[in-house]
Amino acid sequence: MKTLNRRRFLQASALGTAALSLPATVYSQVAGANESIRIGVIGVRGRGGDHIRGFAPLSGVRLVALCDCDSTALGSAAEKCKSLGHEVQTFADLRKLLDEKAIDAVSTATPNHWHSLVTVWGCQAGKDVYCEKPVSHNVWEGRKAVEASRKHNRIVQTGTQSRSSRTGVAEAIAWLRQGNLGQLQLVRAMCYKRRESIGKVDGPQPIPPDVDYDLWCGPAPKEPLMRKNLHYDWHWVWATGNGDLGNQGIHQMDIARWVLGANELSPRIWSLGGRFGYVDDGQTANTQIVFHDYSPAPLIFEVRGLPEKKGSNAMDQYQFKGTPLGCPVGVVAQCEGGQLFVPGYAATGAVAFDNDGKEIKKWSGAEDHFANFIKAVRSRKREDLNADILEGHLSSSLCHTGNISYRLGAASAPEAVLERIRGDRDAAATFERMSAHLAANDVQLDKTQATLGAVLKMDGKSERFIDNEAANELLTRKYREPFVVPAEV
Ligand SMILES: NC(=O)c1ccc[n+]([C@@H]2O[C@H](COP(=O)([O-])OP(=O)(O)OC[C@H]3O[C@@H](n4cnc5c(N)ncnc54)[C@H](O)[C@@H]3O)[C@@H](O)[C@H]2O)c1
Repeated sequence: MKTLNRRRFLQASALGTAALSLPATVYSQVAGANESIRIGVIGVRGRGGDHIRGFAPLSGVRLVALCDCDSTALGSAAEKCKSLGHEVQTFADLRKLLDEKAIDAVSTATPNHWHSLVTVWGCQAGKDVYCEKPVSHNVWEGRKAVEASRKHNRIVQTGTQSRSSRTGVAEAIAWLRQGNLGQLQLVRAMCYKRRESIGKVDGPQPIPPDVDYDLWCGPAPKEPLMRKNLHYDWHWVWATGNGDLGNQGIHQMDIARWVLGANELSPRIWSLGGRFGYVDDGQTANTQIVFHDYSPAPLIFEVRGLPEKKGSNAMDQYQFKGTPLGCPVGVVAQCEGGQLFVPGYAATGAVAFDNDGKEIKKWSGAEDHFANFIKAVRSRKREDLNADILEGHLSSSLCHTGNISYRLGAASAPEAVLERIRGDRDAAATFERMSAHLAANDVQLDKTQATLGAVLKMDGKSERFIDNEAANELLTRKYREPFVVPAEV
């Protein structure tokens, strides 16, 4: 019976076919061999392809199922699996994949609005889950994903692969926390990544014929498509995405929170920014500052989607104090005695400089993040995970609370912005650099005003805002039946 799922067994019985006479399925374990871990990948168009390439070569791992509600993406991913030596069953509806008892673990690279629901349903179905970042589309559902992993005793890895840089980023952060650069003063995270206009349509667009749009929308409202591309550009629409903060930015937000060692949401948050430089169908900010008032040091996040200057293809670089170096995507921990720099991705590790810009120490080296998940799936020890779902929930939520502040904001003149933020460490200087960057792109903030978000206070224990019901409403969403994240997981 191990080789047949419940539905197929019943179908076989109903047809009067002896179940055991059916051919072995892709799920069969090889007699005498150690049992392999059978994985289903959900959402296979872009990042899901990396999941396939990541799991396929791991020993004792078999890709057995794929799911995508876009049949073209599904077909070509299945071909890819075949070429890598893995025979898979394909599904359009992820609920059917989760019904398959013989699948041990699922990994998911759907758009953000599906992540927590897949995780909760996956845990309820007894699967371990590798969930792409951000692990949630809102704060509340991310907490539900954590609860589901605990209640059903499942291993749930967050797809923030920098966490697997053990001899790189992890050791550098441990060194910093030992006080080797003195008191931490500020953690700054940058996401300077070019984001072009997504175009502007003048009416509802056709849904690609190979896509089951009801499944694609899932928990989000099923509304006419009001942008050119269904795929990928969902990042820039609030119903499905979280802007670049929740796209590239979550990687750096996670490293920044890791540096701080903060295990709760920040107690005070504000954000400011706008979607500048073009008018298109996107809604999220392409230029944004988020201030998380942690102690002993604040976390300042900067998003820039426009190039270094109008007409250029290059991105800005954040310049490190005292060094000729800079970076477009990274984290800088500024301390009394120098700074620690973690560039874009894990394999490059981290480097520490003193206040004269002299390199003091360097770290590199990363484990494979997919292999780390498999290790924990085998050991059944959550502590073996480099990026447990709780880490993913907290870091994803820092993106969400920043966006909530922004969404509750109003267009404000530069003087009003400066007046409001000047009490916060480095905030005014950050805003002035943002203004200069926009000016280089022909955006003058006295003419096209930035949106200054609400200043929000968060109770880190309840993960609710204090005295702000409008903000609390944005901690969750109205789920579209039957794609509802349950309150009781
Ligand atoms: N960790 C990383 O470095 C990294 C890199 C890129 C993307 N990502 C994350 O991966 C996710 C996917 O990104 P992408 O660029 O591949 O997006 P994409 O839009 O190109 O692909 C998403 C795929 O999910 C499918 N999908 C949507 N709803 C589905 C459902 N209900 N069931 C099954 N499939 C469904 C879509 O049809 C599409 O094929 C995002 O959340 C993104 O943040 C992570």
